[in-house]
Amino acid sequence: MQSLQFKHTTELQPNEFDTLVVPLFTQTQVTHANAHPLTQLETLGLADACQTLLDDKDFAAKVGDTLLLIDWAQAPVHRLLLVGLGEAEKLNDKNYRTAMQAAATALHQSGAKKVLSLLSATWPQGHDQAWSLYQQTLWLQHALYQYQHTSRGDFTPKASQVTQISLFQAQPGDSDTDKIAQAQATAYGMKMTQDLANTPANFCTPAHLADTARQLGQTHGFEVEILEREQMDALGMGAFMAVAQGSSLPPKMICLSYQGGDPDDAPIALVGKGVTFDTGGISLKPGQAMDEMKYDMGGAAAVLGTFEAIGRLKPNQNIVAVIPATENMPSGQAIKPGDVVTSLSGQTIEILNTDAEGRLILCDALTYAQQTYHPKAVIDMATLTGACIIALGHEMSGIMGNAPGLVQAMIDAGQTTYDRFWQLPLSDEYDQQLKSNFADMANIGGRGAGTITAGQFLARFIEDTDWAHLDIAGTAWRTGDKKGATGRPVSALVEYLMQAAD
Ligand code: BES
Ligand code: MN
Ligand code: ZN
Repeated sequence: MQSLQFKHTTELQPNEFDTLVVPLFTQTQVTHANAHPLTQLETLGLADACQTLLDDKDFAAKVGDTLLLIDWAQAPVHRLLLVGLGEAEKLNDKNYRTAMQAAATALHQSGAKKVLSLLSATWPQGHDQAWSLYQQTLWLQHALYQYQHTSRGDFTPKASQVTQISLFQAQPGDSDTDKIAQAQATAYGMKMTQDLANTPANFCTPAHLADTARQLGQTHGFEVEILEREQMDALGMGAFMAVAQGSSLPPKMICLSYQGGDPDDAPIALVGKGVTFDTGGISLKPGQAMDEMKYDMGGAAAVLGTFEAIGRLKPNQNIVAVIPATENMPSGQAIKPGDVVTSLSGQTIEILNTDAEGRLILCDALTYAQQTYHPKAVIDMATLTGACIIALGHEMSGIMGNAPGLVQAMIDAGQTTYDRFWQLPLSDEYDQQLKSNFADMANIGGRGAGTITAGQFLARFIEDTDWAHLDIAGTAWRTGDKKGATGRPVSALVEYLMQAAD
């Protein structure tokens, strides 16, 4: 992808750049409660001129407003991009991010090449310089994402002319360089995740996911192992194989291993649902928007994207990935409602709805991950339930788990990168909803609490290991005008893993 070069600098010398990005609040520039003070406008002699712009109502400085001024007499550079941050008293993560995204779009659509940004010199209360450098780097890079694939036909991506961005530091800090590197690696990871989820299911097959993993292994030195159908049949992955039997494409269990820590240290395991297309199977989905079920491998894509970032950052931590990948198809071989299968754990499952396939492939992956790697923590992620979209919409991913510390650490990481999670409860009463008269459990739990009963189902396959489950059905994909993959929750996962390595 088009790759920008990011630096941080404490030198305020705009004449070395062709573009200066200047954030403005609606009122005063220097004193405000909720934001780190932005004194640089005074230093640059821009404060009065900007105040006049505001007073004359030439620029309202509402959150996300932008104004590009070329050869403005007062400006020390050829191109000045004003970005509105709204009222200083109301500066928060959301407003900051809106402003940043607007600035990114305006910059990439302008003739800017060498940019000095002052947007990194202020930040909402509760954050610090490293945070604003991280946010700037990630979003200026992420804004350049465009889906490209041979199947798209005659498509030339719009290129930005920006090559280099210097982020002004109001105060130098120890972790600044690391945070810029983390943001840049995260942007690459999110791009991989988006590419995979956007790619049509006739190209993005289980074999394609496996190839992507092998490629990652070669680039970054991960150990890669792909289990084939015969091996998985022999191991007894009856739940995963039951879903896979309806598809003529061979299923894959994709395993990646990164050794960044002591060889004896237990790893953190990431498990991602890789349903490359979910028709619902015999319990067929309605036709409306079924095309979007190509993103039902969003969990797998997020795990691979996170490994792309990890490969670049090389944290001091062992991390493994386990990705069950298959299609969910109706066919003469497909599972039927009422069929009973035996999972790798030995527990039997009555399949009451073949559209609840995600949990069937994940349960065997969870058992396999625990048996093979003895991880200290397992985080699974899946576009698991439509109910999660009803509960949380497209803003927050659902999170559930058995370990308060792990769940809180993921929530905190998501708050830091603004890739947020909201916890839903697990409890015995919900588990009761999975009761079956014909097997140890059913694969669905009735009408109520669909996201939670899916979590309860997975919980039955966790043995004495810290575990968190991320339901990303609402957050991995956007519908409407901007239809396509978001790259979530890669930024939160990378942040969590980097914190865990400290
Ligand atoms: N992949 C779907 C969940 C989904 C739905 C993700 C919409 C993204 C958007 C999953 O396999 C599924 O079909 N779940 C069923 C479960 C039900 C049968 C208990 C659902 O949510 O309807
Ligand atoms: Mn389904
Ligand atoms: Zn599904």
